[in-house]
Amino acid sequence: MQTRNLIDGRWVGAISGREFTVRDPATDAQIARVPDGGPADARAAIEGAARAFPAWSALPAPDRARIVRRWGDLLVREQERLARLMTSEQGKPLGEARGEIAYAASFLEWAAEEARRAYGRTIPASTPDKRILVLKQPVGVTCAITPWNFPSAMITRKAGPALAVGCTMVVKPAEQTPLSALALAELALEAGVPPGVLSVVTGDAPAIGAEFLSNPLVRKLSFTGSTEVGKLLVRASAQNLTRLSLELGGHAPFIVFEDADLDAAVAGALSNKFRNGGQTCICANRFFVHESLREEFVERLARGARALRVGPGTDEGVHIGPMIDDHAVAKIERHLSDALAKGARLVCGGARSRPRAGLADRFFAPTVLDRCTPEMLCCTEETFGPVAPVQSFTDEADVVRRANDSPFGLAAYFYTRDASRLIRVAEALDYGIVGASDALPSTAQAPFGGMKQSGLGREGGREGIEAFLETKYVSWRVG
Ligand code: SIN
Repeated sequence: MQTRNLIDGRWVGAISGREFTVRDPATDAQIARVPDGGPADARAAIEGAARAFPAWSALPAPDRARIVRRWGDLLVREQERLARLMTSEQGKPLGEARGEIAYAASFLEWAAEEARRAYGRTIPASTPDKRILVLKQPVGVTCAITPWNFPSAMITRKAGPALAVGCTMVVKPAEQTPLSALALAELALEAGVPPGVLSVVTGDAPAIGAEFLSNPLVRKLSFTGSTEVGKLLVRASAQNLTRLSLELGGHAPFIVFEDADLDAAVAGALSNKFRNGGQTCICANRFFVHESLREEFVERLARGARALRVGPGTDEGVHIGPMIDDHAVAKIERHLSDALAKGARLVCGGARSRPRAGLADRFFAPTVLDRCTPEMLCCTEETFGPVAPVQSFTDEADVVRRANDSPFGLAAYFYTRDASRLIRVAEALDYGIVGASDALPSTAQAPFGGMKQSGLGREGGREGIEAFLETKYVSWRVG
């Protein structure tokens, strides 16, 4: 297991010599000590990335693509080891961790293939002596700040396209999950990523983030995390007008119309809501169910939720692992008591769960709440836990208005069998990602990202490649 930072091609401790502890959220056991890096470590990585940029960006696109592709293949080869490492530091069930490694590898495969098509264009000029060329060039040195909920895929979703188009990148992973990032970096070196092209700096997020945005060598920062931190980054980016991609919080509505396939809607609700224990930016936060189906939907959702096994992610058959930390559990409890005080009906769950002795007190039973209202905290803020609050509706226009009544606009879901309604509602929802009878829309080839306070820009798809390219216009006067 790699426990040092990768800076400019070398495995090193923090310049200060300080370290911090990585713990298993299921048991609180210490897993590793890693460097507690700060601005000086980030600066060294950025300077290494700037030195590596000319040669890496000059490499022909197919050569870069081969290396990025090989990196993805190594993730697949090491899937089991990486998944176990992820579960040990993040807590998610092993099956989900294996799925995330495959998902992470798919971003590298996609970027390797798609970056070969980073075409510019020529534009017909207005006079015979001119030619107009549009060049696509890598942005330059880029940085990424990645979250703990998807410790591997959120790195490759950024680093895959960045490296494939010729950028270099410094990654700052979440404090809770640095080991997955360091393991990915090890495999990048094995794949042939040259020194300095990809660095990983673990440590103090505000200090490292401040260096990323004050250092004029850095041309772009890609961030996944909370809207609150996203806003701070927007302000700090003014110093050098650093380009930003921001994938921020969401508050997804999940609408079940009266003509929905109820089996599909309940199965979708269960997989969407309880994936990663509800610690997912795109998971449903507000269920809107047509009044004619509400009772049955709630009953079936609760039956499904009760059947989910809670326990350490390494245990066979577990569906919901521990929450990431004590703050996460406290937030769930705050949302729950607020909802109950405001009249919600607890249908199942509603309390911490104790799978067995010797574990941390950080497990939460999957919870279904009925008769929720928009005033409840769980219906306005991200709970980031396994809580499914249900509201009802009777009218299409009204439910679309209520679904859109949020400062967030990341993902929305709805179930209907009416084709006209499908297109009407998909167009009306103010969200960057819309799952129409599809509760799991994430995939490498599609543009992922939000509207309103859920972020700026898109990751994945062609848009995710474009995000790491500059457009240069060359006006050529032919003599
Ligand atoms: C996220 O929670 O932001 C990532 C989820 C995904 O890629 O499906």
